[in-house]
Amino acid sequence: MSKNNVAVIGLAPMGKNLAKNIANHDYKVAVYNRTYEKTQDLLNENNLNIHGYKHLDSLVTSLELPRKIIIMVKSGQPIDNFIQEIYPMLTEGDILIDCGNSNYKDTERRQKQLEQGSFYTLEQIMSENKPLNKKIHFVGCGVSGGWLGALNGPSIMPGGEEGAVNEMLPILNSISARDFKGDSCVTNVGLGGAGHFVKTVHNGIEYAIMQGITEIYDILKQYYSTNDSLVEVFKKINTGDLESYLLDVTIEALEKKDESGLLLPRVDYKAGAKGTGSWTVESALELGVAIPNITSSVMMRIMSNQNQFFNVDLDQKYSEENLNIVEKKQIPDIKHFYNALEAIYLTSYLQGLDLIFKANQEYNWNINLKEVLRIWQGGCIIRSKMLLTLENNLSSEEAINLTKEIKKSKQSLIEFFDNVLVKHNGVINILAVYNSSLDYCNCLLASDLPTNLIQLQRHIFGDHEIVVN
Ligand code: 2AM
Repeated sequence: MSKNNVAVIGLAPMGKNLAKNIANHDYKVAVYNRTYEKTQDLLNENNLNIHGYKHLDSLVTSLELPRKIIIMVKSGQPIDNFIQEIYPMLTEGDILIDCGNSNYKDTERRQKQLEQGSFYTLEQIMSENKPLNKKIHFVGCGVSGGWLGALNGPSIMPGGEEGAVNEMLPILNSISARDFKGDSCVTNVGLGGAGHFVKTVHNGIEYAIMQGITEIYDILKQYYSTNDSLVEVFKKINTGDLESYLLDVTIEALEKKDESGLLLPRVDYKAGAKGTGSWTVESALELGVAIPNITSSVMMRIMSNQNQFFNVDLDQKYSEENLNIVEKKQIPDIKHFYNALEAIYLTSYLQGLDLIFKANQEYNWNINLKEVLRIWQGGCIIRSKMLLTLENNLSSEEAINLTKEIKKSKQSLIEFFDNVLVKHNGVINILAVYNSSLDYCNCLLASDLPTNLIQLQRHIFGDHEIVVN
């Protein structure tokens, strides 16, 4: 029997569907899961290109050299545990590819450890005479698109040593989504942890766009009393540069029903988060980059869990009385919602790109921003037509001038606040990301800021230097 071309370890929904996607592109895929039942379930689907293994060592020997082993286990310690387990079985030059949502700092640590051969446990070193410094390549690879994307074509963001990433590219090219011009949504993102960093920032942008959509949904439902009319509005918004996956999902969420009827009004408002949003904010703080849309969106998810130490009495926000009053108000032109959301998409992408740009300068990862904008155009959660517009405008990364676009965003946000907000008896909307975005545009465009007062205060109590013009 000929050797397997690639392995997938960890057969939860993402891993299982990625394995199927690769197998559907005529690669022979070896699969392994800690609990064999999941392997058996996948084998029961009778995909002839998928071969399951009960023991890791037999999977390893079934692979052609250099081995390409995709890791799809939970991020964090489980990845280290797995590497420790498989490391003694590998041959110099083999490639491990972590396709989970790992922190780029962990990825860079693992890359270094694997270069230095320190993934042996002390027991392994003592009990057998293993060669140290067995160099194993480690690729940190962002994959976006959920389990459906994993099956049908995700956006793929691999980073690490150039040769190792290039070795993986033929497989990744074949399984990825396509951009608007029909090319694969995958590129060699850059060195070190670049792939996982770009995926993390992608998720940060995702937080901001989702918050932006949620905040206009909150206002729109005060103007539109039926779900059908709300759906119609969102369909009108989901056009032009805003044509996007997250608006598709919004429409699907609005229409989703179970046996008791529409689901959304009965879904608890506590929003979860798995860490990539916080990592984006942490990186921005470390690098001194302003990403207010993303930061306020991460905070709003935390706030939705209402777990502060003090208690407050809750408002009945949408009481019948308030709703009736709102309905009597004239419904604002949809363009105000469209333009404001467009400003959110734009400023959220720009904040993410700025963060990637600065990280790239700091860590010399060799990231091409134009390529990042391209590979996000298909398969991933933040895909939208605007990414094509941005890619086309980005002729030279450093020289891009967006004055016109930022001014337009600022104007749209001001008109949005003027024309759309409902101010009545405690009916007031949360507009965290719209406020953040307007502040962002204001600051970007300001020739002068009031922070001279802060600097003089610092001078008075802390003897910090001031510049006097
Ligand atoms: P489980 O079914 O035994 O929980 C995502 O975490 C998937 O990766 C799960 O299916 C999990 O297996 C599997 N997994 C976690 N750690 C693993 C390991 N060390 N080796 C193989 N699969 C692992």
